[in-house]
Amino acid sequence: MMTKEYITELKNKGNGDIANLIAAQRDVGSINFILENLGQLPSNFEADFLYNLLNHNHAQVRLNAVKNIGKLNGKSDVERLYSLYENETDTGVKREIVSAIGRQRKCKNKPLLYSFLEDTDPKIICQAIRGLLVFENDKDVEEHLRPLVNHENEMVRNVIYKEYFAKEKTSNSVLPHAETYDFLKNVVVNADVLETLKFVPDESVHLTFTSPPYYNARDYSIYPSYQAYLQFLEKVFIETHRITKEGRFLIVNTSPIIIPRVSRSHSSKRYGIPFDLHPYLVKNGWEFIDDIVWLKPEASVKNRVGGFMQHRKPLGYKPNSVTEYLMVYRKSTEKLLDWNIRSYDYKTVEESKVADGYETTNVWKIDPCFDKVHSAIFPVELCKRVIQYYSYKGDLVFDPFGGSGTMGRTAKALDRFFFLTEQEPKYFEYMQSKQKSQSIFNERKTKFLTLEQFKEIII
Ligand SMILES: C[S@@+](CC[C@H](N)C(=O)[O-])C[C@H]1O[C@@H](n2cnc3c(N)ncnc32)[C@H](O)[C@@H]1O
Repeated sequence: MMTKEYITELKNKGNGDIANLIAAQRDVGSINFILENLGQLPSNFEADFLYNLLNHNHAQVRLNAVKNIGKLNGKSDVERLYSLYENETDTGVKREIVSAIGRQRKCKNKPLLYSFLEDTDPKIICQAIRGLLVFENDKDVEEHLRPLVNHENEMVRNVIYKEYFAKEKTSNSVLPHAETYDFLKNVVVNADVLETLKFVPDESVHLTFTSPPYYNARDYSIYPSYQAYLQFLEKVFIETHRITKEGRFLIVNTSPIIIPRVSRSHSSKRYGIPFDLHPYLVKNGWEFIDDIVWLKPEASVKNRVGGFMQHRKPLGYKPNSVTEYLMVYRKSTEKLLDWNIRSYDYKTVEESKVADGYETTNVWKIDPCFDKVHSAIFPVELCKRVIQYYSYKGDLVFDPFGGSGTMGRTAKALDRFFFLTEQEPKYFEYMQSKQKSQSIFNERKTKFLTLEQFKEIII
C-alpha cells in the first residue's frame, strides 16, 4: 500500500522515482495522493514530470502539480505556468498559478502580476496583490495598487484600504480598548435612546444586545410608517456604531411580524424586519457575522396553522412561527479578532473563558419568558449566552431598548457593567422595583437617571 513514508523515501532516493511512480498510477486519486504528500522538495529535484502534469485533464491534478511547482520557488518556469494560466478554465488552478509566480518574489515578474490585476476573479486579484505586496516601499507597485481602493469588488477594496489607507486613520477612542468611562457603568437612563446617545462618547461600549420595539405591534412601538420605523432604527444603530469600540459586536433580536387585517376584505400584512433592517446595518459600517436562530417550543407561540389544519388547501398554509433571529454584526475594522482579544490581560481572558456545555450550533433552543408587566422580555438564558460568548469580564454592555432590564441584570451577574436606555416611565419604574424586590441590581452601584441627571454626571 502506498503511504506517505514510502513517498518520502522515494523522493529522497533521487530523481525519477517519483515520476515513475506517478506514471504507473491508473487512477486520479492515487496521483493526487502522491502529489499531496510530496512535502518539501530538495533543491536538485527534477520537476519535468510536474510540468507534464499541467496538461492532465483532471483539474485537481493540475492544481496539485502547480502547488508543487510553487515549492521550487525561484526555479519554477514562469513561462510554462503563464501559458497554462492563459488556457486554464479552473479558477482554483489559476489562483495557484498566480500564487506560485508571486512566491518567486522576483522583480521581473511584476508586469505579469500587474496583468493578473485585470482578472475577473477577485480571488485571483487578491492573490496577485499578495504577490506584489512583498515589494515593500516600491513606488511602481504602489502606483498600480492604490487605485484599486475603488475596485468594484469589496474584498479587493478592503485589502487595499487596509494596506494603504487604514494606517492614516486614527481611532476616536481616548481610552484603552478594555476600559470604559465610569459614568456609563451600571446606569439606566429614562429617555429616548437617540436623545441620550448624544451625550455618550465615541467608542465607549464593548457589546450591544437588544430587541428593538416591533413595528406597530405594541403600544410603545407606534410609527407613522414601516419606512419611518426602519429609519428610526437606522439612526439608533448609526449612533450605536459610533459609541461601539473598534471591532466589537452588535446583536439584534428581531423576527418578522404580522399586522392583523383591517377587515375581512383585506389580508394581514407580514413585515420581514430582520431582512429589511439588515441592509441599513451593513450600509452603516456593521459587518455581518452570523445569524443565530432562537427556537421556541411550538406550544409557546401563537397558533396560526389552525385554519389550514381544517381546510388543507394549498396557498392557505400558515406555519406556526417558532423562531426569532439574533443577527450578529461586528463594527467593521481591518483589525483581526486577535487584536481585540490581546487588549485584555491574562487574568481577564482566563476568567472570561466560556465553560463546557456551550451551544455549538446557530440554533438556540430556549423557552420564551412571560412577564406580567412587560410583554416582550428576553429570557435570561438568551442574554447569558450572548454576554458570555461576545464579551469579557469588566466590559460595558449596552441595550438601547432596555425594557424590564433583563440585559442589565444578567450582565451584572456575569461581572460585566451595563448601560441601558428605556423611554417608557412604567418600564423604568418596573426596573427599579425589580432592584428592590430581587436586589439583583446592586443598589449602591446602579444609577437610575433622568436625561437631565445623566447630562449632569457626564459634564
Ligand atoms: C422589545 S422591548 C425590550 C425588552 C427587553 N429586552 C427586556 O428584556 O425587557 C423594547 C423596549 O424599547 C422601548 N423603547 C421603544 N422606543 C424607545 C426609544 N426611542 N428609546 C428608548 N426605549 C425605547 C420600549 O418601551 C420597550 O420597553
